[in-house]
Formats: sequence, C-alpha cells, structure tokens
Amino acid sequence: MKNIKYNLSKLKGKIIAIDGPAGSGKSTTAKIIADQLGYTYLDTGAMYRALTYYAIKNNIAPSDDDRLAKVMEGLSIRFENINDIQHVYIGDDDVTTEIRTPEVTRQVSEVAAHKKIREVMVNKQKEFGKKGSIIAEGRDTTTVVFTNADLKIYLKASIEERAQRRLIDLTKMGITTSMQEIREDIQRRDNYDSNREHSPLTIASDAIMIDTSNLTIEDQVDKIISLAIDTF
Ligand code: DC
Repeated sequence: MKNIKYNLSKLKGKIIAIDGPAGSGKSTTAKIIADQLGYTYLDTGAMYRALTYYAIKNNIAPSDDDRLAKVMEGLSIRFENINDIQHVYIGDDDVTTEIRTPEVTRQVSEVAAHKKIREVMVNKQKEFGKKGSIIAEGRDTTTVVFTNADLKIYLKASIEERAQRRLIDLTKMGITTSMQEIREDIQRRDNYDSNREHSPLTIASDAIMIDTSNLTIEDQVDKIISLAIDTF
C-alpha cells in the first residue's frame, strides 16, 4: 500500500474494531488508518447496504428475512481499493454508488434488524477477519463480530456536529437538504440502531471511547494509531 507511514512489525496481523453511531466519523477514520497501516478496511455497513440494494433490485421485501438470509449466504460481496476509493462489488457488479442512495438508506435499517440476516453477515465478516491486519467499523464490530479485537474504539460526537458533517458530505454529492431534515434522519437512525432487539448499538466494556465533536480527522487518526502502538 502506498501511504504506509508506520512500519512497526508489531502492528501487523492485528484487528482494530470501531463502532459508533451514524456520522461519528468511523468510515473516514477507518479508511485513513487502513491506508496508513496497510490494513484492509472492512465496511460492515456497506455489506448491509449491498444486500438491501440487491433486495430492492430483485423485488424482495426488506421484511422477508428467510429469503434475504439465504440470498446473503450465496452473495459474493467484495471490496477493492481503486485510486483511493473503496469500491464495493456484488459479484462482478460495482455497486459503490448504488448502495448510498436515499432509497437504500431508508430500507437498510429494517434489513439490518433481522437476526437471521445478522448471523450470516457476522460469519462472513469473521471470515474477512481471519487474515488479520484488518480495521472493521460498524455498529456491532466491537461487541459481536470481533470480540477478540486487539483494539476496540467507540467513536461518538454531538448530534449538531454529526449533522453538520453529513450536510457537507451530501452537498459535495450535489444533494440538497436541510439541517432539520438531516438531524431528524440521524435521530431516527440512532433510535433504530440502539433500540432494535438484535445486536443493538452498545458500548463494549473494553472499548476506548473517543468524542470526536472537537477533533479533526487527523486528530482522530493519530489518537487511534497511538493507542494501537501503545496497546499492541
Ligand atoms: O454505517 P452505515 O450507515 O453504512 O450502515 C448502514 C446500516 O446498517 C445502518 O442502519 C446500521 C446498519 N449496520 C448494522 O446494523 N451493523 C453493522 N455492523 C453496520 C451497519
């Protein structure tokens, strides 16, 4: 990997897991750390999004957990880093953009709430983790998927800051929306992710909590890499 800044052999083969609510900065932070440490970035949310996209495309209801769990067993989801952008594939189809549409975002929480679907996902995510040198982020990577992670981080940020970040991201994508709408969407997703029956978003007892409200992305990255160097 081209941007590796750290060449400490003790960082090799480890698992770093990051959880936190929508907009806490998990994916941006995880991507940069993966690049700097030569790790694989596992975006578990993208896997739930890919399945949701597949369901919409094939007219499968988000409530049909039996069918979706079966579909997921046979679905080959892979990630590839092309020109610093992590691409997501279902089989040979590049679905990087398609999995971020508002339609997928609206339905993914329901798909992700099913126990059967989560079981299949978690097994697939554990497979990814077997090689080590992985940084995974999501809602249950510290509490369910990688309970054996070498470093567990929980990122949090104020709702104002998270909404502001989301507004900047959506504006960059050319999507017009209001702060009010974004705040409501974040609150709805927080509620859903934290109160669902199966694997709700919780804080692992051995996770290190970092409040990113007043931190830059660089600060977050430095902090986590320092923790990794101290911990491993
Ligand atoms: O992080 P994201 O917005 O791409 O996640 C998409 C959805 O998937 C979101 O509703 C939370 C859910 N999710 C989950 O339940 N477990 C994970 N490990 C990752 C995401």
